[in-house]
Amino acid sequence: FAFTPANRAWAEAQMTKYPEGRQASAIIPLLFRAQEQEGWLTKPAIEHVADMLGLPYIRALEVATFYFMFQLAPVGSVAHIQVCGTTSCMICGAEDLIAVCKRKIAAEPFALSADGKFSWEEVECLGACANAPMAQIGKDYFEDLTEENLETLIDALATGQAPRPGSQAGRFSSEPAAGLT
Ligand code: FES
Repeated sequence: FAFTPANRAWAEAQMTKYPEGRQASAIIPLLFRAQEQEGWLTKPAIEHVADMLGLPYIRALEVATFYFMFQLAPVGSVAHIQVCGTTSCMICGAEDLIAVCKRKIAAEPFALSADGKFSWEEVECLGACANAPMAQIGKDYFEDLTEENLETLIDALATGQAPRPGSQAGRFSSEPAAGLT
């Protein structure tokens, strides 16, 4: 693994944001960019980032294994669906969403769908409890989910569409209501 020239330049720019000798502080954005480049965070990618930051591999691995924003095994080529299973979401129907994932993607978390396009996992609270139940797909939150609209979301992603993130019930829209600024 090596960063593409563009990603290498971006990574070096991140490192300059920290005081001399503190470049290791850039580890999370660099790991995330490596994951975006590869689709998941491979061991060579973690080693590459560690080398850039002058860290032992184990220190970079510690960070990569701590956060569930990092995927240490191959995930779906189109989407890895992270369903929140913590209290608010659990009470509001997370189990129904996980049932959809099991039915449409794979019986086990982190397993790939038959076409390799999708994978899923259950994660802890993502901080969007007011719009439970919800799931994160890529960098987007999809909230107020139901079994039906999660199925629709997966079908849309499978056909190359880009579903609109946010509340799937239409509340708390990021667009101001008419008359509000
Ligand atoms: Fe699901 Fe907080 S409990 S977002």
